[in-house]
Amino acid sequence: MLDQMEATRGELMKLVDSAADLAALESVRVAALGKKGRVTQLMQGLKDIAPETRREAGQALNRLKDEIEAALTKRKESLGEAALDARLKTETADLTLPVRPGGLGRLHPISQTIEELVQIFGAMGFSVAEGPDIDDDFHNFGALNFGEDHPARQMHDTFYLPPKPDGMPMVLRTHTSTVQIRTMMKVKPPIRIIVPGRTFRSDSDATHSPMFHQVEGLVIDETTHMGHLKGCLIDFCRAFFQVDDLPVRFRPSYFPFTEPSVEVDIGCSRKGGELKLGSGGDWLEILGCGMVHPNVIRNCGLDPTRYQGFAFGMGIDRIAMLKYAIPDLRPFFDADLRWLKHYGFVPLDPPSLAGGLSR
Ligand code: PHE
Repeated sequence: MLDQMEATRGELMKLVDSAADLAALESVRVAALGKKGRVTQLMQGLKDIAPETRREAGQALNRLKDEIEAALTKRKESLGEAALDARLKTETADLTLPVRPGGLGRLHPISQTIEELVQIFGAMGFSVAEGPDIDDDFHNFGALNFGEDHPARQMHDTFYLPPKPDGMPMVLRTHTSTVQIRTMMKVKPPIRIIVPGRTFRSDSDATHSPMFHQVEGLVIDETTHMGHLKGCLIDFCRAFFQVDDLPVRFRPSYFPFTEPSVEVDIGCSRKGGELKLGSGGDWLEILGCGMVHPNVIRNCGLDPTRYQGFAFGMGIDRIAMLKYAIPDLRPFFDADLRWLKHYGFVPLDPPSLAGGLSR
């Protein structure tokens, strides 16, 4: 019996080693340890041996079974690794191949413009904040010092939504100024944020869309004054429009949430019906701004005798149209690939101050 076991071991081990794949290995397992397998049969033969040697033979058989099982497991692992290696070899990608930019699509002018804004204001120390598109009357109007019957509420062509259970009217935010409130109520000054995002007003023609984009800016600390506002926005206009000597004019205006309030115009010329940015004797309004009203600072739980700063807001779609000479706003939101191919940007060439904002 022991001789027979030795011979079986030798044969089975050879079979295990020569199994070429996982399926072949499985048949070896069945042939050795299955119901009618060689080792199983030897086990069944135990009952016919003399009782004196049965114990020894039984132990030897168990060892044989363990050895075969261990060899099967080992072989299974190495076959598995080999199979994975083979698969990895057939599935390699050559990472040194150049990318074909055509296949990547185009970056929408709004995405490009937002990225440019982030680069310019990022270099001035601003970080990006966000807020919800659907907000309540408090964040959109109340906290921003619009009184109950303030005429400016009507000027916003607001989309109203069903009120909250407590009666608070809900709106699609009409400006990103909501995030001034959200930030001041949450963050202890110093604050220096820009807020790019979607805004909504019931208005629609070649230069107005019911959904459009704004970027808000907010600086709050203990020392920031009107001079900082002017320096910051003059630098921004010249960097964004890439005209070093671009004339920038500050004109008195009114917003409930800033005092004083100003609107910013940039120089342009309209000679021959063509709009050209630069010193051409004409002016073009591009943004609203001002020193944050003490009431707004107080409404956010901050002390207006201690904290002060400025805010600004501008239309992203509008400055994108101006910079990239896009005549009509409506196709911005038509998802027309022909338009995007013409006005879009190569996604592998992101704007940076060092590398150039746009090419
Ligand atoms: N929220 C104003 C608007 O939508 C713009 C603005 C923002 C003006 C911040 C001043 C300060 O017209």
